[in-house]
Amino acid sequence: MSESKRIVVVTGGSKGIGKAICLKFASEGARVLFVHYDPDEQAANDTLSLLNNMGVEAQAHKLDVSSFEAVEAFFTRVAKEYQRVDVLVNNAGITQDGFLMRMSANQWNQVLAVNLSGVFNCTKAVIRPMIKERSGRIINISSVVGQIGNIGQANYAASKAGILGFTKSVARELAGRGITVNAVAPGFVNTEMTEKLPDKVKEAFLAQIPMGRIGEPEEVAETVYWLASSGATYITGQVIQVNGGLYM
Ligand SMILES: NC(=O)c1ccc[n+]([C@@H]2O[C@H](COP(=O)([O-])OP(=O)(O)OC[C@H]3O[C@@H](n4cnc5c(N)ncnc54)[C@H](O)[C@@H]3O)[C@@H](O)[C@H]2O)c1
Repeated sequence: MSESKRIVVVTGGSKGIGKAICLKFASEGARVLFVHYDPDEQAANDTLSLLNNMGVEAQAHKLDVSSFEAVEAFFTRVAKEYQRVDVLVNNAGITQDGFLMRMSANQWNQVLAVNLSGVFNCTKAVIRPMIKERSGRIINISSVVGQIGNIGQANYAASKAGILGFTKSVARELAGRGITVNAVAPGFVNTEMTEKLPDKVKEAFLAQIPMGRIGEPEEVAETVYWLASSGATYITGQVIQVNGGLYM
């Protein structure tokens, strides 16, 4: 699989894990299109500059993955321009933490809309060109929290567990079409999302990690890249854990 021929779409690519995924694919020569939904363009512009400096074709777009119509329109434009998408990484995600007793319907709906419906929207929009090519890789970023739950994150955990059921179902549907669908479940990773956690929560997480440290975005990106590589042709419907042993 020659990277220079591959079109890779990454959601939530402006920062954190998504940025590391974009840079990894770009370092191997792929063309990278990423979307983000930051309030400002600073992080997206910085990431785009890094990609351009690597000499690969790259694009950044502001797109809310929770909007079915906007996602459909985006992938229609991509299909027109490139005629194909080889890899989709559904990475965009948000948290709106709170104890269930105090969690509003809005907090629940927003997290489910971005984290789970966003994965549905993008996957649905991308499979038509992939089926036409009879090839494609879809990698969904779940979380250890979707596997073991977490206090204050009922909405987030539900969305991330939902991704696992979605991944396995779609993997079964698309296996005969040459498309693999897998999930990556990171543990506790050093990004803006975890930066904002209270120190007490961070320490509690750290105490449970056998490897004794939090993960780096690049360590997740390596696994995502591998799942999209020629080394992973017979892997579908799996959940690959990148968590330092936090959950086995
Ligand atoms: N950081 C961790 O410890 C950790 C652990 C497990 C799983 N994850 C998951 O990994 C993914 C990336 O997390 P991160 O820590 O890099 O987050 P981050 O907050 O650093 O970045 C989130 C990215 O998602 C984008 N985004 C947010 N809402 C969006 C929307 N509506 N439409 C499109 N893009 C949107 C943002 O613009 C940004 O690019 C998320 O799905 C997260 O749940 C993170």
